[in-house]
Amino acid sequence: MQSINIGLSDEQRQGVIDMLNQDLADQYLLVVKTKKYHWDIVGPQFRSLHELWQEHYEAITLNIDATAERVRMLGGYPVGTAEGFLKLATIKEHTGDLPNATEMVKRLADNHEQIIRNLREHVDASGDKYGDEGTADFLTGLMEQHEEMAWMLRSFIEGQALSSSGQRSGEVTAAV
Ligand SMILES: [Fe+2]
Repeated sequence: MQSINIGLSDEQRQGVIDMLNQDLADQYLLVVKTKKYHWDIVGPQFRSLHELWQEHYEAITLNIDATAERVRMLGGYPVGTAEGFLKLATIKEHTGDLPNATEMVKRLADNHEQIIRNLREHVDASGDKYGDEGTADFLTGLMEQHEEMAWMLRSFIEGQALSSSGQRSGEVTAAV
């Protein structure tokens, strides 16, 4: 790690660098999975999901770069190998299968939610444990983007349970 003087100790910086590298690895695996499903999707929802996943992987790709560059700003080095990403990531790959559209959406929603839970912990640790408000702010913005992407994916799954009149089966309407 480089020696820099920005008001954080080496231990503080190393603590946030480790968290950022884990978040980088998870985003990398998620961008790979999102692209794979963008390519593989078939069925009546082809166009909407194909386009939604392109929007998502483009946003995640920008965030990957920002996460890696934040590691450099803190004097560290980002993970940059497939081996390293697989070692650090908390989300899992599914090799050798071809799920249907709903299962693809469900897996991606679960992965976004996993990343949101990780980021929530990392936001707290960045500020409270390591005193790095800049990283806490950066990770908060990242978490909010994953919250929006997860909501879009969950909404798609919920839509599968709607009747032709638009009613949710067995559910009292919450909208008044
Ligand atoms: Fe494409």
